[in-house]
Amino acid sequence: MQATQARGSDAHSADAKLFQPTRIGCIDIANRVVMAPLTRCRADEPAGDVPGSDINVEYYRQRSGAGLIISEGTQISPVGKGYMATPGIYSEAQVEGWRRITDTVHAAGSKMLAQIWHVGRITHPALTGGAQPIAPSAIAPRDVVAYTHQGKVDIPTPQAMSVQQIADVVAQFRQAAANALRAGFDGVEIHGANGYLIDQFLRDGANRRDDAYGGSVAARCRLALEIVDAVAAEIGAARVGIRLSPLTPFNDLADSDPQRTFDHLVEQLDARGIAFVHFIEGSTGGARDLPGFDYAKARKSFRGAYIANNGYDRAMAIEAVESGRADAVAFGRAFLANPDLVQRLRVGAPLNAPDAQTFYTPGAAGYTDYPTLDAQPAVA
Ligand code: PHB
Repeated sequence: MQATQARGSDAHSADAKLFQPTRIGCIDIANRVVMAPLTRCRADEPAGDVPGSDINVEYYRQRSGAGLIISEGTQISPVGKGYMATPGIYSEAQVEGWRRITDTVHAAGSKMLAQIWHVGRITHPALTGGAQPIAPSAIAPRDVVAYTHQGKVDIPTPQAMSVQQIADVVAQFRQAAANALRAGFDGVEIHGANGYLIDQFLRDGANRRDDAYGGSVAARCRLALEIVDAVAAEIGAARVGIRLSPLTPFNDLADSDPQRTFDHLVEQLDARGIAFVHFIEGSTGGARDLPGFDYAKARKSFRGAYIANNGYDRAMAIEAVESGRADAVAFGRAFLANPDLVQRLRVGAPLNAPDAQTFYTPGAAGYTDYPTLDAQPAVA
């Protein structure tokens, strides 16, 4: 009954721009609903953080109604890993595993980006093969724990990176982008959000350096821009985007002046002509209405695509794209729980609720077994 009513009242909005094709950078997408990157901890860990098992392929295949799929965060090196069973993109086995997934997604008519990721200080030697976590400065995050095979552990104080270690990370991002194209991805999203390595350099809560990579806004943005430049030189700026979260407190990170920091960054990203910026508006998975950053201003000062994220429902997403406030809208938990999310949004159908108990657990439960509309009994 609920579904029927929603369908009736929203009949016209199935034609909304949200459901129309567009182009992001050089990538043509069938609609403007994006699957956000989602950590699911189901890579083949003992065998080297390799994706591409049958359930991994099936999970992404089910969600290929999205115009664009952004992969779960994918570490660029062993020390860039922060959670159990997250996939990498630095070994040949990982590239081959991803290829199984991208081939399937393409055959189903969608496009896919690799989200390339280094967690910086948000990890523990039990997850990095024994290596000490690295970060801009030797400051441990407060009240953040790591989940290891031995259980929950406190995160140690990271090692402050040398200039050589910074150059190594830039080179690893570049190699990850090259690997992503070899694995059949259409491009990459650089993970610059949520308190991980790049964000640790951007925001002064974790960056107390007094060299070329810390201090002034320009210096704090240097690592992000060196990575963008290296990745764009490798695969072309039209296949590169970046995810940012100027206000999120997630992973114990904050900035003393997010407007100033991210104004500079967005201006520099615009000058580089990259395909998109993907903003988590507000607190990751939480409140949208935090003060301190003007997303509309960022949208206006960036000529590439603006992908909006965080707590969007159908009406908000339709409005955001219709009004021009965003070019596309990324859905995380809604996509996790609704493989046929685009179809449901089109007709105004109700959504399955996500089950947080199975977000990070192994196996098919809570991964590939969420029902589609077709599979649900008809509502009387
Ligand atoms: C998580 O695993 O909780 C996670 C990973 C990457 C993010 C955010 C959350 O960007």
